Amino acid sequence: MDKYVSASVLSADMLDLGNEIKKLEKSGIDMLHFDVMDGIFVNNITFGLPVLQQVRKATDMFLDVHLMIADPIRYVKCFADFGADLISFHIESKSDTLETIRAIKDCGIKAALAVKPATPAEEIYKYLPYIDMVLIMTVEPGFGGQSFIPETLEKIRDVRNKISELGLDTDIEVDGGINSKTANSVIKAGANVLVSGSYLFSAEDMRIAANALREGTVC
Ligand code: DX5
Ligand code: ZN
Repeated sequence: MDKYVSASVLSADMLDLGNEIKKLEKSGIDMLHFDVMDGIFVNNITFGLPVLQQVRKATDMFLDVHLMIADPIRYVKCFADFGADLISFHIESKSDTLETIRAIKDCGIKAALAVKPATPAEEIYKYLPYIDMVLIMTVEPGFGGQSFIPETLEKIRDVRNKISELGLDTDIEVDGGINSKTANSVIKAGANVLVSGSYLFSAEDMRIAANALREGTVC
């Protein structure tokens, strides 16, 4: 399966976002990961629609929007209209899962279902035929710069096996604590879209860092 790196702008220099995006483009980063937090679903508040709108104007990059908000269905259309190419929302949120998937698809964009570390893999199986991607949180959602939770590897393996069993080609994205030390194990477990914030943005050479993630180089 093709592997992709999605850069989490949560770790970018917000006052210099335009140049940060240019750097991502020049470094061959595949997608831009946009973390929306509402202070209710998670204990943090980040950014939302006006910032996404500006980001959309600044780049043609694929915009991978991760909604960590209490009632995502209410905002699906707005995020799609403001430029999202894919919307991930949490199965643990209060919105009806199938209705939210349908609302995203009705906007003509890709839909992904996100799961927190404590949520069992089995809970998402019945939705697999309807989604483009599963987002497996490899840290507790809320903040960048946390350490990877190794117990999530089993969930990645289980979901990848289920996807194969169903004859699907659904992407698996991993988010949290992904760096050159953890990339190898998540790829081996079956992930193919790697979100990275602090590791990528602190790298001396972002292109080399992104290649190390895709190749799963242990260094
Ligand atoms: C955490 C966010 C992540 C975060 C990843 O809730 O969903 O996207 O920015 O950051 P790192 O790569 O620093 O763990
Ligand atoms: Zn995220």
